[in-house]
Amino acid sequence: MKILITGSGGREHAIAFSLSKNEYVEKIYCAPGNAGTYYENKCENVKLNGIDEFVSFVKEKNIDLTIVGSEDLLVEGIVDIFQKNNLKIFGPNKKGAMLEGSKAYAKDFMKKYGIKTALYQTFNECNKAKEYLKNIDYPIVIKASGLALGKGVVICNNINEANKALEEMMIKKVFGEAGSEIVIEEFLEGYEASILSITDGETIIPFISAKDHKKALDNDEGLNTGGMGTIAPNPYYTKEVEDLFIKDILNPTLQGMKKENISFAGIIFFGLMITKKGVYLLEYNVRMGDPETQSVLMLMESDYLSLIESAMDKKLKDINIKWKDKHACCVVMASGGYPSSYNKGYKITGINDINGKCFIAGAKLDENKDIITSGGRVLNVVNIADSLEEARKLTYNDIEKIDFKDKYFRKDIGLIK
Ligand code: AMP
Ligand code: GLY
Repeated sequence: MKILITGSGGREHAIAFSLSKNEYVEKIYCAPGNAGTYYENKCENVKLNGIDEFVSFVKEKNIDLTIVGSEDLLVEGIVDIFQKNNLKIFGPNKKGAMLEGSKAYAKDFMKKYGIKTALYQTFNECNKAKEYLKNIDYPIVIKASGLALGKGVVICNNINEANKALEEMMIKKVFGEAGSEIVIEEFLEGYEASILSITDGETIIPFISAKDHKKALDNDEGLNTGGMGTIAPNPYYTKEVEDLFIKDILNPTLQGMKKENISFAGIIFFGLMITKKGVYLLEYNVRMGDPETQSVLMLMESDYLSLIESAMDKKLKDINIKWKDKHACCVVMASGGYPSSYNKGYKITGINDINGKCFIAGAKLDENKDIITSGGRVLNVVNIADSLEEARKLTYNDIEKIDFKDKYFRKDIGLIK
């Protein structure tokens, strides 16, 4: 079997690594992939530009299945185009991808189907939004409705901060068109959980829970990032939380998807806030999380490809996913300065000396085939062990062995207070 994976991050390296373990997989093309997929078993990196080139490549190489790593191509409609060409692809069509591509649409969907979420208002005009800001309690959260690489959310403690955030999004357009519509919502306090899940349109099966660490600095300080590390399972995701999630969020989501005709074979990722008032849905994503995937797939005992195939065949109802009875800890090694500006092009050493697995995120090969830094989030080091403490220890030991100029990582991933 031949597979194509789109994307270039640590998530895509982790997906490729998982799929390569299936004996029926002969080849995995990664477009564009990175230095990690370059060296991964059965993998080959390919450069393809635009959806049309993806379609031609898949036809030319007789690729059996395409897996879309990140949201941009889904929102652009890659699934619709592949399906028109009778090509197998795992992920939602353009309409389904709106659950991630438009926060305004997603919030309206949640409201319509009684899914527990923060109270909100949507605005297309800056003046109307500013009027609204005058008579509300703070803090509040302002979100660019469109895709903004996880950066389009600002927590505002007072009206001045809120006006500034609005102007940046709606007038200065710092997130481009993504900020021409905005959502203002109630601030929720609690613990976050990432619940990735797989669906075939009839059933949604949640994966093992994960916890991301979104802020750049220790103690959850600093700017929001794509994620600086993850652990799985999430210690705050108790049985009681799980029951509330299924009742208040998962079941009504499935019902809503069926009613709105947005059922698909793919991933739904629920971003949860566990509060004293119950479990709230912050957002949907329609692809795997990065770096959640790196922890979650390391704990998956079942064969991931078989699971994807069951979803494509609408046979998830009878599936029971098996998980290792272990804990995972993934720490992101970043370029100093990320998520603001940073330097790149530095040689990375020590990757082959570690105990765990190193997924490569922002690194490429230079002309000597040395691995050099090329992005903000550079490496994702993961270990699994019988306890979270042990998994943390192993991962931080591994990190000591890896070196590159300007390396930066959080020291408190998985430290539960
Ligand atoms: P989102 O892209 O909607 O998941 O938001 C990014 C991050 O902003 C989340 O992971 C939370 O840390 C934070 N956030 C989003 N919405 C809220 C909210 N209503 N209350 C508190 N924090 C939030
Ligand atoms: N780590 C959060 C995300 O992938 O959206």
